[in-house]
Amino acid sequence: MENYRISLSEAELPQEWYNIQPDLPRPLPPYLNPATGQPLGPQDLAPIFPRALIEQELSPERFIPIPEEVLRVYRLWRPTPLHRARRLEEALKTPARIYYKNESVSPPGSHKPNTAVAQAYYNKVEGVRRLATETGAGQWGCALAFACNLLGLECTVYMVKVSYYQKPYRRSLMHIWGAEVYPSPTDRTNAGRAMLAEDPDTTGSLGMAISEAVEDAATHEDTKYSLGSVLNHVMLHQTIVGLETKEQLALAGETPDILIGCVGGGSNFAGFSFPFVPDKLKGRDLRIIAVEPTACPTLTRGQYTYDFGDTAKLTPLIMMYTLGHSFVPPGIHAGGLRYHGDAPLLCLLVHEKVIEARAYPQTPVFAAARLFAQTEGIIPAPETAHAIQGAVEEAVRCRETGEEKCIVFNFSGHGHFDLAAYDAYLEGKLEDFEYPPEVLARSLAELPKVPGT
Ligand SMILES: Cc1ncc(COP(=O)(O)O)c(C=O)c1O
Repeated sequence: MENYRISLSEAELPQEWYNIQPDLPRPLPPYLNPATGQPLGPQDLAPIFPRALIEQELSPERFIPIPEEVLRVYRLWRPTPLHRARRLEEALKTPARIYYKNESVSPPGSHKPNTAVAQAYYNKVEGVRRLATETGAGQWGCALAFACNLLGLECTVYMVKVSYYQKPYRRSLMHIWGAEVYPSPTDRTNAGRAMLAEDPDTTGSLGMAISEAVEDAATHEDTKYSLGSVLNHVMLHQTIVGLETKEQLALAGETPDILIGCVGGGSNFAGFSFPFVPDKLKGRDLRIIAVEPTACPTLTRGQYTYDFGDTAKLTPLIMMYTLGHSFVPPGIHAGGLRYHGDAPLLCLLVHEKVIEARAYPQTPVFAAARLFAQTEGIIPAPETAHAIQGAVEEAVRCRETGEEKCIVFNFSGHGHFDLAAYDAYLEGKLEDFEYPPEVLARSLAELPKVPGT
């Protein structure tokens, strides 16, 4: 019998996350204090993060046990299935074997609760009452609202203004799970008020919303900040995806030739691919491809340097590929891929050429999403569709060369709340966007000068 889905039992759920830090080809450059240029210590992060997450952020341990309470919540939807995309293969007439790891089966519809549940848990254990966060497309806000609801915390979400209005149903989900949601920039924070004074009609950006959520946490004793991507501990929690995928591929008798994921801040891509990186570093022939939009081309056109994680320069300096913290991407429909930077762990591996990066405009991405929906049935999130387009491109290449490669991509979320974007695509209203070099040069010119460098 032909297999379509490779499933693990609940008993096979991994009990540890994988921390890539001890396996990196060189150590990760530290976060820096922007005022002094000195590396940050754990105490510098304490006002906004709980101790356990700060320890994970800097941990040298290769494996970190997943707490029992987190595993109990994971079991609501994990382990997630690995699918063989046989109908997509047939449509593409490719000799390649295509698999996808289906993270869309979580209650909020994406990979994001893998870290939201863990973060809510550690905050709760340390007595935090409320979490503040930002969200772009709304997937992360939904995931944190869901996690806080299950673990008994309050949740405040600053949602990028353009998405707040483009994606009203994600806002409804957050409300159902009990969160309060504001279109960012707001007049609730100093950072938000300053941004509104500068441009009252701004569509907002993740960088701006982060500034607001960080300020909210730093100015309230009972509140901490929660970030859905970029940081090391987020990548760590997401490795449950890749660890399961490895087991499932082994069950299918496969070793992957190409791994593909989309990148916003890097968390689904990292979680999916990092458990395979040691194999590649030991010499296995494996390509690992990160896909981003041409409208926010951080890895493909950004600079590898220290920059702020947010617009108002409240965060530490992070060594990463960046388009500049003042970069405001156009309102493309893949709202979750609009961040000016990327996870430092991912950036280091791209810089070391362990991971490749490429960028696609949104029209071919939506064409791939539609092909996927018409063959495999599931409607992908626009973010996820970037990974699908990557897989399609590689599978078509296999058709041309006759190579029978094993291509595996991460299906990071479904697009049930992104139908307005699909309508725009079907009506021919989507525009492709290449960031003009002079605009990019302008935001890169605002990169911080790091003291002592
Ligand atoms: C479905 C989906 N995939 C991918 C992303 C990109 O985020 P990350 O790169 O952290 O996985 C998002 C972000 O909102 C998302 O909602």
